[in-house]
Amino acid sequence: MLKNGEKMLKIDKLSYNVKENDKDKEILKDINLSFDENKIYVVTGPNGGGKSTLVKLIMGIINPDSGKIFLDEQDITTLSIDERAKAGISFAFQKPVTFKGLKIKQLLDIASGKTNNVGQSCEYLSAVGLCAKDYIDRPLDDKLSGGEQKRIEIAMVLARGGKVNIFDEPEAGIDLWSFEKLTNIFSSLKSTTTIIVSHQQKILEIADEVILLKNGQIEKVGSYSEVAPLLNQSCAQLK
Ligand SMILES: Nc1ncnc2c1ncn2[C@@H]1O[C@H](COP(=O)(O)OP(=O)(O)OP(=O)(O)O)[C@@H](O)[C@H]1O
Ligand SMILES: [Mg+2]
Repeated sequence: MLKNGEKMLKIDKLSYNVKENDKDKEILKDINLSFDENKIYVVTGPNGGGKSTLVKLIMGIINPDSGKIFLDEQDITTLSIDERAKAGISFAFQKPVTFKGLKIKQLLDIASGKTNNVGQSCEYLSAVGLCAKDYIDRPLDDKLSGGEQKRIEIAMVLARGGKVNIFDEPEAGIDLWSFEKLTNIFSSLKSTTTIIVSHQQKILEIADEVILLKNGQIEKVGSYSEVAPLLNQSCAQLK
């Protein structure tokens, strides 16, 4: 349990650059953010603004040029992806990852750290709108449709039950019916810190805080109604 005033996750002056034509290009500039327990954060903003970069930095898929990341007041900036996963951070990619040779049931067992009976595996899959018996014995490979892969990856994050659950554009490729279910799942994940990268109004509306990221900088953090007027401006500038 966190002490009063402690944040689950804190990001302190985080910057990330890439090399372009031998010159440094700033992708994220001095980002400061803090995330509480029991809250849903939605990161939004124009394409290329740096959203996926930010969540990959939190998961440790890439490393910052400067700045620090703290989980439960501990500096995790130099920890590997595995170490961060053990510390309780869980991540669903914008483009899902497939695993040749492993069945979906086995992957759910690995994710949850226990051997699930069929009923338990089914619960994770039905939560993401899949009829479990059709899927548990299938491998998570490219024969599954894009939407199926995406939903199974979300089911794995649910099975892991981390402290900080990150979803990068979970809505991409998900049909409308399942999308409704998805928003219910995210609303029910309140006992953890949930970070969702999204462009969807329905997901923005369930956020406790919306983080607007544009040109590698935080433009605004606030409720959906506070940030919404700026979103329209961002879209207008894109045209
Ligand atoms: N390794 C890299 N080399 C060059 N440019 C990169 C690299 N990684 C990210 N970028 C650039 O950084 C910017 C931010 O990328 P990022 O994927 O974080 O955007 P995003 O906000 O997630 O966009 P989208 O809404 O399209 O998913 C983009 O302009 C991208 O081209
Ligand atoms: Mg992205």
